[in-house]
Amino acid sequence: MNEVSLESAISKYKTPFYVFDMDLLAAQISKIRIALGDKVELCYAMKANPFLIKELQGLIDYYEVCSPGEFQICERADINPNKIVMSGVYKNAKDIEYALKQYGDQIIYTIESLSQWQILEQYTLKHQINVQVLLRLTSGNQFGMDETLIRQIIQNSNHTFINIEGIQYFSGTQKKSVKKLEHELTRLDQFCNELNSQYNFTVKKLEYGPGLPVFYFEEEQNEEDFMLDSLSKLINNLTSGGKVSLEMGRFIAASCGSYVTSVVDMKTNQKEGYCIVDGGMHQLNYYGQMLAMKRPPIIHWNKRYGKTSEWTVCGSLCTIHDVLVKQYPFTDLQVGDKLIFEKTGAYSVTEGISLFLSRDLPQVLLYSDKDKFRVARNSFPTDTLNYFDCSANETRKETMDSIPMLSVE
Ligand SMILES: Cc1ncc(COP(=O)(O)O)c(C=O)c1O
Repeated sequence: MNEVSLESAISKYKTPFYVFDMDLLAAQISKIRIALGDKVELCYAMKANPFLIKELQGLIDYYEVCSPGEFQICERADINPNKIVMSGVYKNAKDIEYALKQYGDQIIYTIESLSQWQILEQYTLKHQINVQVLLRLTSGNQFGMDETLIRQIIQNSNHTFINIEGIQYFSGTQKKSVKKLEHELTRLDQFCNELNSQYNFTVKKLEYGPGLPVFYFEEEQNEEDFMLDSLSKLINNLTSGGKVSLEMGRFIAASCGSYVTSVVDMKTNQKEGYCIVDGGMHQLNYYGQMLAMKRPPIIHWNKRYGKTSEWTVCGSLCTIHDVLVKQYPFTDLQVGDKLIFEKTGAYSVTEGISLFLSRDLPQVLLYSDKDKFRVARNSFPTDTLNYFDCSANETRKETMDSIPMLSVE
């Protein structure tokens, strides 16, 4: 997105807002595809940012969908059910039955427990339809199943309707160590080979979430390309022969996002300069930010020539933790200026404590050079979620509409 486009959004839309650049998103996918080659499939973990799914339809192979809510988003966006991997530690029997009735054997289901297996077994029998499943291997937490249980399921696999396509594995996000990826992939490869030699079972698909990292802060060296290339080499070395599907959210989505917020107040308290913005930590999330000590990529949009001084940027929540960055050098920062936080395409829009203080959810814009700006979500009030009496809201809205905006020069 060029400066002119950004300027037009800034003058048109009320802050705070997110803008997700679809051209950058496509460029990131293309970079990943080039590094991994065409044998590796890409599965987008939509929890990172559901607003991107429609745009990604032609660019990725699968969506990892983890809740009924995410599934409904896919339905509304008209996502091809053949691209859906229905994942999640809790799958409600009713939701599974709905998906089976509606989409038959098009969706792939992950199995995270014996009871999930049994629910599917029961329902596929009842509806007399085949389903494809992936068995999720645990990494030592509440997700997935032990190797022993997976072996038992495979060994007793006299299932009329359930086709086990392979194994799913995800152990965590922001992995910055190639050694860790190597360790996981080596073990998975070995496990797949054992399933083959011991039970004559072929893992047709290995769905692996590598948790590739995004390097957010000024203080770090950006090793994203190195991590991607290393992962590609490790995948090439696998011996078990199944198709590899990479389940990723952050690495796909982070770089396309910007979060724009306005400086609404400035003050000096006990010699420290504080700048208050109309957004905050409930809408902005940089994994690994420690007590706001690290510096994420920020553009001071209205940068002028003048004196540079340090400001601690705080959001508008009632908590001392709502600090976005400490003692950041700005040149002639003023009330009304816009700050653009970059690399906010993943998890900022979904992970925040959005209901705290009943502040509005920010507007979401999608941008591409071809289509310019499109509103993907209007700013949305949360006060009615925290206490529901809509009639009172109407009266308030009428009063608010009649008050002219006070502009601070
Ligand atoms: C099962 C699963 N797969 C994939 C992901 C995506 O991880 P990342 O955003 O690090 O790529 C997650 C994230 O929580 C997950 O739980």
